[in-house]
Amino acid sequence: MDVTYKFEGKVQLVTGGNSGMGFATAKAFARADAAATVTGLDQEPLDRAVEEIRSAGGKAIGIHCDVADEAQFADMVARAVAEFGRLDAAFNNAGIQVPASDTADQSAEEYDRFSAINQPAVWACMKHGPRQMREQGSGAIVNCPSTGGVVGRAGIAAYHGTKRGVIGLMRSVALEYADRDIRINAVCPGTIDTPMVSNMLDKGMLNMDDLLRDLPMKRLGTGDETARAVLWLCSSGSGFVTGHALLVDGGFTAQ
Ligand SMILES: NC(=O)c1ccc[n+]([C@@H]2O[C@H](COP(=O)([O-])OP(=O)(O)OC[C@H]3O[C@@H](n4cnc5c(N)ncnc54)[C@H](O)[C@@H]3O)[C@@H](O)[C@H]2O)c1
Repeated sequence: MDVTYKFEGKVQLVTGGNSGMGFATAKAFARADAAATVTGLDQEPLDRAVEEIRSAGGKAIGIHCDVADEAQFADMVARAVAEFGRLDAAFNNAGIQVPASDTADQSAEEYDRFSAINQPAVWACMKHGPRQMREQGSGAIVNCPSTGGVVGRAGIAAYHGTKRGVIGLMRSVALEYADRDIRINAVCPGTIDTPMVSNMLDKGMLNMDDLLRDLPMKRLGTGDETARAVLWLCSSGSGFVTGHALLVDGGFTAQ
């Protein structure tokens, strides 16, 4: 079945929207007629992403933003609202992977650098997104914790720790807004074919043969498959779903 969504007149924001699952989701929203605000850390890939969406007929702006900096995050939401007038959906996607090592061998600096991004960025989005959404009286936010928020994995404990924290934040903020028509959910992707995973394969943090052996579907997921789950969670089709962490992992955690 070819599922299509209509977000005409709606405005969405994707953090880390110039790469991987964020880019796939920004494009999917634009194809569904939403105005897209794409945010990213590096200007050149951000410009390219926005250009690609526009040349396919979509409406998009790019805003440079380090999501770990709350002031930049607040400014980015304000600029998106100034441009398009509202904010209906946000995919809180930006994140980084930690280099693999035993926790015993990880430096405090490395842990701090990493932790300063994955969780504070999610908190900032769940602070500044709903500020606009509660004025409008509606909205949907989807966070991106990963199966790492549900199960453990040796060697990347800090990553999994922050992702578990994202689920805790998401559930509690969802309850704050459950009776105000603002829904807060999460997708938990399994191993998805994105630059983050290519990078881990290149560095030997992951091995494709091992990966495929462990994956029930014997393949990686795609950015589009994550995007479809995000669009569903932002659509009226999921109107009674909030505080939910949706596994998009090809059955990995069912094993
Ligand atoms: N690829 C996977 O298998 C997988 C699985 C589960 C969860 N995730 C999570 O999904 C999200 C997207 O990952 P991806 O695989 O598409 O990776 P990616 O590396 O392709 O994209 C990550 C994006 O986040 C942005 N980013 C990183 N730090 C930032 C910062 N401080 N400010 C603004 N933007 C920043 C990057 O610029 C990039 O656009 C991440 O949160 C990741 O942890 C990935």
